[in-house]
Amino acid sequence: MKTFSDPAEMKRELQRHTNMSIGFVPTMGAFHQGHISLIERAKEENQIVVVSIFVNPTQFDNKDDLNNYPSSLEDDISFLNKMNVDYLFTPSYADLYPDNYVYKVEETSFSKELCGRSRDGHFTGVLTVVMKLLNIIQPGKAYFGEKDRQQLLLVQGMVDAFFMDVKVIASPTVREKDGLALSSRNRLLKEDERQIAALFPKLLNSEKSDAEIAEELNRNGLKTDYIETHGGIRYGAVFLGNVRLIDNVKL
Ligand code: PAF
Repeated sequence: MKTFSDPAEMKRELQRHTNMSIGFVPTMGAFHQGHISLIERAKEENQIVVVSIFVNPTQFDNKDDLNNYPSSLEDDISFLNKMNVDYLFTPSYADLYPDNYVYKVEETSFSKELCGRSRDGHFTGVLTVVMKLLNIIQPGKAYFGEKDRQQLLLVQGMVDAFFMDVKVIASPTVREKDGLALSSRNRLLKEDERQIAALFPKLLNSEKSDAEIAEELNRNGLKTDYIETHGGIRYGAVFLGNVRLIDNVKL
């Protein structure tokens, strides 16, 4: 696996592979089985696979959340090597934001709902970094998990709105045996919190109303940010201590 951090060098290297299909998996590291399934799918569907690891500060509205974001770079890299991934892109903030974030990509409607309501500027940070990464890598296909469905829909919307030449591929949420959606943030849960966390997907999938679910979660020690249904999908976000978990299910 070849590793690059400089955007211009990464771009130049990939432009050598004209006529080869490039699959791209953008990540913030701290891999779990959900990332693995995205990478496996990218490997199946493309001749060259590029993975990026960059914990993007512009999508965090809270410094503590950014500082506490889990990291396991060495393990991630040995894992990518084992999977025979072709390229790893690990830029720094200065590499990716030479403009120091004065240029932004903003969606002004759906990004202000659900997670956008409580995480000010989150999706502007996400869309901006994804636009930058896609412009550097120029993949034919880019892979995103359905666990972050609001992110997935907004990225798809951006690609359509800006006539970008990439196919956004959605990959199903990978879950623990008890139904908890895999997330890098699960590593931050204490043992007792981890046990209670299973109630979240269980209730999202129940016949109860959004309001009843929120109430039951709150009664059981999970602090509900939102439980809302849009277009046949029930979305939810809860806090367990300081750890924020999100999930969504098709009804
Ligand atoms: O889903 C993530 O890990 C991040 O939001 C992404 C897409 C890599 C952008 O920083």
